[in-house]
Amino acid sequence: MSTSLVVAVDGPSGSGKSSTARGVADRLGLAYLDTGAMYRAMTWALLRAGTDLSDPDAIAAAARGIHLESGVDPLDPTIYADGVDVAEAIRGENVTAAVSYVAAVPSVREQLVAMQRQSIADNGDRIVVEGRDIGSTVAPDADFKIYLVADPAARAARRAAEDGSADALATEQALAKRDEIDSNRAASPLAMADDAVLVDSTYMTLEEVIATIVDMVEQP
Ligand code: DC
Repeated sequence: MSTSLVVAVDGPSGSGKSSTARGVADRLGLAYLDTGAMYRAMTWALLRAGTDLSDPDAIAAAARGIHLESGVDPLDPTIYADGVDVAEAIRGENVTAAVSYVAAVPSVREQLVAMQRQSIADNGDRIVVEGRDIGSTVAPDADFKIYLVADPAARAARRAAEDGSADALATEQALAKRDEIDSNRAASPLAMADDAVLVDSTYMTLEEVIATIVDMVEQP
């Protein structure tokens, strides 16, 4: 049996987490789980159901009936909400604007954290898991914990390029607002685990960030 290799990649939006985590999983032959996509898919399903997102109790009640499924192939990550392929829809502006409110509801977090731990176990503890609270809450015993950061302007420029938006300043402001909600919520806020390694990607290429983490894992 192969030994466990759980790599937690946490950090704020736009720090390059997704591309980094997928690249690391691919290089190391590990599964890949995007937990942000799960919060987004839950938000998409709640918006579709017309749930009042200003009411945490309504969110909690509706979320219990929603079924999510995440594929873990780093080269083809998939996400379904109640049987609907939502991979594209969850990147839409309406979901991005609402997701922090859904992610702040404690019972939603409990529900998704349980699914995330199940997915880690189902993959034989050989997986790269990306999110905000992986090293601190979802997998506190992870073999490696990375906390990826980048300067706000660099993050906004990358995110604006990804979204095809010409307005990097508006993107920077939207990211700052989301970080503030994610960092200040009561339930598992965005925070660096005490034993995580900080990687600042501001002046690094994606390949350099991936190589840094792969080296860490291969030559601990
Ligand atoms: O990484 P992302 O932008 O796709 O994340 C979407 C939202 O979900 C973001 O507002 C933070 C939240 N999130 C979270 O609270 N916990 C996680 N483990 C992953 C994401």
